[in-house]
Amino acid sequence: MDDNLFTKRLGEPVSGDQASESDAEGNILLRDTVLTDKLAAFNRERIPERVVHAKGWGAHGEFVPTKDMSKYTLAGLFTKVGKKFRTLVRFSTVAGGRDSADTVRDPRGFAVKFYTDEGIHDIVCNNTPVFFIRDPMKFPDFIHSQKKNPVTNLTDPNAQWDFLSLTPESLNQVTVLFSDQGIPYGFRYMDGFGTNTFSWYNARGEYVYVKYHFLSEQGLKNLDPAEAERIAGENPDFAGEDLRNAIARGEYPSWRVAVQIMTPEQAKTYRFDPFDTTKTWYETDFPLTEIGKLTLNRNPKNFFNEIEQAAFCPANMVPGTGPSPDKMLQGRMFAYTDTQRYRLGVNFNRVGVNASASPVFNYQRDGILADNPVNPINYYPNSMQDVRFSKRVRVVPPTVTAPVKREAPPIKDIDFVQPRDRYLAMDDAERERLTDNIAKSLSGAEKRIQYRTAALFYRVEAGYGTKVAEKLKLNLREVRRLSELSQAELEYATGRR
Ligand code: HEM
Repeated sequence: MDDNLFTKRLGEPVSGDQASESDAEGNILLRDTVLTDKLAAFNRERIPERVVHAKGWGAHGEFVPTKDMSKYTLAGLFTKVGKKFRTLVRFSTVAGGRDSADTVRDPRGFAVKFYTDEGIHDIVCNNTPVFFIRDPMKFPDFIHSQKKNPVTNLTDPNAQWDFLSLTPESLNQVTVLFSDQGIPYGFRYMDGFGTNTFSWYNARGEYVYVKYHFLSEQGLKNLDPAEAERIAGENPDFAGEDLRNAIARGEYPSWRVAVQIMTPEQAKTYRFDPFDTTKTWYETDFPLTEIGKLTLNRNPKNFFNEIEQAAFCPANMVPGTGPSPDKMLQGRMFAYTDTQRYRLGVNFNRVGVNASASPVFNYQRDGILADNPVNPINYYPNSMQDVRFSKRVRVVPPTVTAPVKREAPPIKDIDFVQPRDRYLAMDDAERERLTDNIAKSLSGAEKRIQYRTAALFYRVEAGYGTKVAEKLKLNLREVRRLSELSQAELEYATGRR
């Protein structure tokens, strides 16, 4: 075979690639399939960007369990101490498009894929331990409000703060986002949090609830907002470049992996709803247990193949692990593979980085770009083929004890406790920066939305609300008055139609 013999897409050699076949006057002939094939392929180079987390970077690596957790889970991933599990990680920002800047104030995605002997396990994290909402029903509205305005196509602080102030369960995450942590220096210098509550079960079928943490061994490092803005203009790919160069230099970033564990009995009485993604489990109540180490040590050879086409989903869970009554997790378990069937096509699971490292056997077939197994049987039950089913997989006991309902939990005092504790744990300088950042962003919203939001911060903590009100030059007495209203009264008083 000739090396690098130039060909068309199906292997037919071509005589040249720099000029189209044309007549003496310069007209190109339609029969020039060297040209039409080339343009047609080029015209289809872009696939839809991710509807969220469109801008991202990634690398390959390994996860090594360091503690045998078989008391709680039968998953090899968390019990086979010392075994190296191949991993893929994709880091991202959330709201911007595919070519937006890395150094913006936004949560960072931290999606981890583990290739195991029992299929793919994904933990699709953010760098923040909590989220803005606690019901997946609100996710499309939340994202609409944070991305571009449909009329102007501009980012819209009015919509952003309107939604957040009508969704006060977001205040805990808003406090994280506008703190120093809101603009990490780069992906190596941030932690990752599974955020959702998952379950683990052991060989005896006993189960517990868990939350995953990835703790940066590089330490945490953030960017000053003015510096971040400057870098965004100079080098929008700053964080991706930092990651790639570090790995190329052999400075492999690593994270200690830990879990918090809660028994079903503890879940019944914990003061915060353990399945509410706007709340953490305090580490003083549920300490971290270190279970392994994640290291990134290999840059992708082709970005599109290995990172753009990567498909992560929190529903990808190996035996010994499962979901919980966390509504957000359940919504996510549908959303990711659904969007991937659209973004990448129904057979996305066959693309290199998404493919299972262990054998796949079922009777699903066909669809666009199928590469079916050679098997004359395509139905079950059948009397031609022996099929085994796993005895290791358990259904986590259902917890349905009351009638099914569609009802958002009302906003209660407990919803203000964690953002208050978070604010009180900051020193004076951090509080100034937090409220500066909030005031700068909120100043782009209508006055009535500024009042509504400042009143909510006041309800979190009087000093917090006062600083936001003062920086926005709001009437403090009015903010205080509004903070004493119920959420419904507050919305009415600030012009919710
Ligand atoms: C109900 C709530 C949520 C819904 C419906 C949702 C939906 C989605 C969708 C549709 C994508 C695009 C996936 C793709 O195109 O491959 C995505 C990406 C992502 N989401 Fe969520 N999401 C939710 C909440 C969360 C939470 C709570 C976290 C973090 C704890 C999170 C972290 C991520 C990450 C890291 C990605 C990027 C994955 C990658 O790098 O390919 N999401 N989400």
